[in-house]
Amino acid sequence: MKVYICGSLNYDLVTFTDRIPDAGETFKANKFETHAGGKGLNQTIAVSRLLRAGQGVKVSMIGHVGDDSFAGELVGILSRNEVDTRLVTALKGVNTGVATIIVEQKTGQNRILISEGANGHTNFNDDQLEAIFPAASQSEGPYYVIFQNEIPGTIPIMRWLKQNRPESIIVYNPSPFKDVERDDWSLVDLLMVNEIEALQVLESGFGATVAADYKSKIDVDFLAGYKEVATNLQSRLISGNPSSLVVITLGEKGCVFTSKESNEAQFVEARRVEKVVDTTGAGDTFLGGVISQLCTNHSLRDSIAFATKASSISIQRSGAAESIPVYSEV
Ligand code: RIB
Ligand code: NA
Repeated sequence: MKVYICGSLNYDLVTFTDRIPDAGETFKANKFETHAGGKGLNQTIAVSRLLRAGQGVKVSMIGHVGDDSFAGELVGILSRNEVDTRLVTALKGVNTGVATIIVEQKTGQNRILISEGANGHTNFNDDQLEAIFPAASQSEGPYYVIFQNEIPGTIPIMRWLKQNRPESIIVYNPSPFKDVERDDWSLVDLLMVNEIEALQVLESGFGATVAADYKSKIDVDFLAGYKEVATNLQSRLISGNPSSLVVITLGEKGCVFTSKESNEAQFVEARRVEKVVDTTGAGDTFLGGVISQLCTNHSLRDSIAFATKASSISIQRSGAAESIPVYSEV
């Protein structure tokens, strides 16, 4: 089994503060840290660390860095986490992606500003895709390919994969959200969104009125509403794809997910933690945790329960990638 993650690598510059400055206001923050980040890199490290040793799964990242000192650091952390970095390309004359992050210390909540740098230069032609993704004859069975929205051109790669590598399993985490053409949602085998993105996907697929209707249902009964959103996304939006599944993460409440066995979405509760330190990368840890278990033949429910524990550990530590636990800790 092999897992490819096609996405961003960012150098995270993180400032911890009691509150966010107003416009024109200056005051001292509490502390500053740098961490490896970027949704692509975080998810890659999450899959790799959360795999149980000796399962023979290879994890490979596809992405771009610049020609500054951040580039080497990010590639270094991937290598130290047993990730194949041969498909991470260094580009001349551009900066490595940088995320400026402010963490409010009381709550652990973050605000993130991205300077995409090299991540914005992702653009593969068909010959390159041929070379990157092994054909069925060379691959040992199916493989997962995971995408987020911090690089351009992800949908064309998914279209190419569905056409040319039908054995690939496409995981899409459309974060940060951007519009996708209605028919393209069927490219997705596993859609993973948070509670805000779930409504954005609904709106993009069915329009603002439908999204507002669901929003009202959610306001009345949060869980029942999100269960309906999940089933609706699976049965009506990515319905062109019979193997599709939907997972919606609900922060401190937990997550809902669809299954092929039942018409009603299922719920897994989150774990209570004593003190939230930094939630940056919690969603990425969750996604990586789910895939690390799914790709070694665990059920979606078990994979989600495992990932829920993994992300609850990550929010009790600062940083994105560095806060992701290893399998044995979970
Ligand atoms: O998902 C968390 C990540 O989002 C951070 O590591 C930051 O780099 C931004 O891309
Ligand atoms: Na963290």
